[in-house]
Amino acid sequence: MTDRYAVVGHPVAHSLSPEIHAAFACQTGQDIEYIRLLAPLDAFDATMARFRAEGGQGVNVTAPFKFAAFRCCEPAASAMDAQAVNTIAFRGGKTLGYNTDGGGLVTDLERNRAFSIRDKRVLVMGAGGATAGIMHPVLQGCPKLLVIANRTLEKAAGLVARFGKIKKFAATAMTAAPYDALGGDKFDLVINATSAGLRDEMPPLPAEVFAAGSLAYDMVYGRQTPFMKFAQSAGVRTSDGLGMLVEQAAEAFFIWRGVRPDTRPVIANLWKPA
Ligand code: ATR
Repeated sequence: MTDRYAVVGHPVAHSLSPEIHAAFACQTGQDIEYIRLLAPLDAFDATMARFRAEGGQGVNVTAPFKFAAFRCCEPAASAMDAQAVNTIAFRGGKTLGYNTDGGGLVTDLERNRAFSIRDKRVLVMGAGGATAGIMHPVLQGCPKLLVIANRTLEKAAGLVARFGKIKKFAATAMTAAPYDALGGDKFDLVINATSAGLRDEMPPLPAEVFAAGSLAYDMVYGRQTPFMKFAQSAGVRTSDGLGMLVEQAAEAFFIWRGVRPDTRPVIANLWKPA
């Protein structure tokens, strides 16, 4: 019988996940069906329970349900660190929660962009769920410095305090900063993990933050955000979040199916010039 999966969100019509998983299934010969599931804002748990009762094997979770998903799962280490879940596997009567977003970002940087985080100065803009999801894998990559910039400084400071308590990261230089304190610093990698680009807005970033040869990475995909235009006009290499999207999906596919798909042809097929 065909195994069933879904992406759950609100809204969810825009999600590329069904196309991505269909491509993975075709490539690896796996017999799966993958649908979009619109959950009412106040009924994530009920939507999950129904899908599971109807034979669902797992789901991807998108905005705004990643924290709700965390609360209803047994979290794996990746989800525990992020306190958010983007992948659920229904297995042996259990609801297992994972977070593959950060792993997807680092894999995209390293494999598809030939960019290693090791010993680099990294700036992450934003301190919401998207940033929480990438913190552990980024720190695992051993940056020389990690700065989290946010309008609401307490949120950035909270993340820095939480991840600074993890023993293996205690020696990594990590700070929280307001945007207007960034003027003097140069970064090799600047990641936009804010939701500003979705509204065609731009965090108040000084142009001097880009070091020579740096990479500007926007986790948003499928549109040319003000941040990407800003970085391009500063002469900086840019990347949108399409590769991250496909890589996090590949990690979810591996969790569910035990098979690792080749992501490159899938990224190439989905890529469109913005
Ligand atoms: P997500 O789950 O996508 O991270 P979120 O938890 O609502 O969404 O967080 C959104 C992040 O984008 C926050 O860090 C927010 O900054 P504040 O905490 O100061 O609100 C940031 N953000 C949204 N719009 C922004 C803008 N125009 N400029 C700068 N930061 C912005």
